[in-house]
Amino acid sequence: MFLAASSYADKVDFAFYFIVYTSVILIGIIVGFMLFCVVKYSKKNNPNPSQIEGHVGLETAWTIGPTIIVMMMFYYGYQGWIDMKTIPDDAMEVRVIGKKWSWSYEYKFKDEGVEKVKRSATLVVPVDRNVKLRLESLDVLHSFYIPAFRMKQDAVPGTPYYMWFRAIDVDQKYDVFCAEYCGDSHAYMRSYVEVVSAEAFETWVRKEPPAKELGKQLFHEIAACTTCHSIDGTKLIGPSLKGIWGRKSKVITDGKERSIVADEEYILNSIRNPQQDYAKGYDGVVMTAFDETVLSDEDIQKIIEYLKTLK
Ligand code: CUA
Repeated sequence: MFLAASSYADKVDFAFYFIVYTSVILIGIIVGFMLFCVVKYSKKNNPNPSQIEGHVGLETAWTIGPTIIVMMMFYYGYQGWIDMKTIPDDAMEVRVIGKKWSWSYEYKFKDEGVEKVKRSATLVVPVDRNVKLRLESLDVLHSFYIPAFRMKQDAVPGTPYYMWFRAIDVDQKYDVFCAEYCGDSHAYMRSYVEVVSAEAFETWVRKEPPAKELGKQLFHEIAACTTCHSIDGTKLIGPSLKGIWGRKSKVITDGKERSIVADEEYILNSIRNPQQDYAKGYDGVVMTAFDETVLSDEDIQKIIEYLKTLK
């Protein structure tokens, strides 16, 4: 009935519909029988009620019948669950990084024997290929949810969680959501999965952004700084970064106010340890810290180059 686009989606749907239809049929039978009894055994139709005590046949039937139904529900649910939890050995791994409030993806691949990393704000996957996701969170609990794949898994800070899927329809695009309330912009924490052919995937993964665009791409897509910092002067959750380079401003360090100039050292530290010197007027606002595994020092240099252009 709903779009089902992964190898195990049918099993999830079957268990779901089995439970729904069984429940609807049983409700019909139970309510029907109650109405029947209301009429048949009313005071008018049955003035002298008789008492029945113990009926081995009935007792057995209503113990065994529901047990069988519940076991069937369990069986179909378990079948789908086992499939989802058993990650195929040949699966291609993608690192999924969740943070307030965006998802980004990292692919490790070999190009002529050299290890490379591709980063993206869209989860691009080849069709008919098993894909294993390594889910990480940089700050709070998030939940990685792809409804079309019937896939949902928590992203927990400090511990990677794994999940897998195999997309079955090529040239399709599906929504990715965060399914765990994670703060102000939780509702905007979304992304997409794009299912492409194997050839298109190989081409895509090898395509690098132009060197001078890298800082901009890291800023807008990978680190998604704009979910909290505007570049046009508007105050969002964090201070605007318009004209940040070389700007004099007040920060709070160890509870005391001091003046700083936004230079390389300050910006680098603000990305690695955001709470150490936070902008005045932003008490209680906690920014996500980016470690070297997500943004290397070189990446941050690229971002700084881009920040210099925001005048
Ligand atoms: Cu992340 Cu809700």
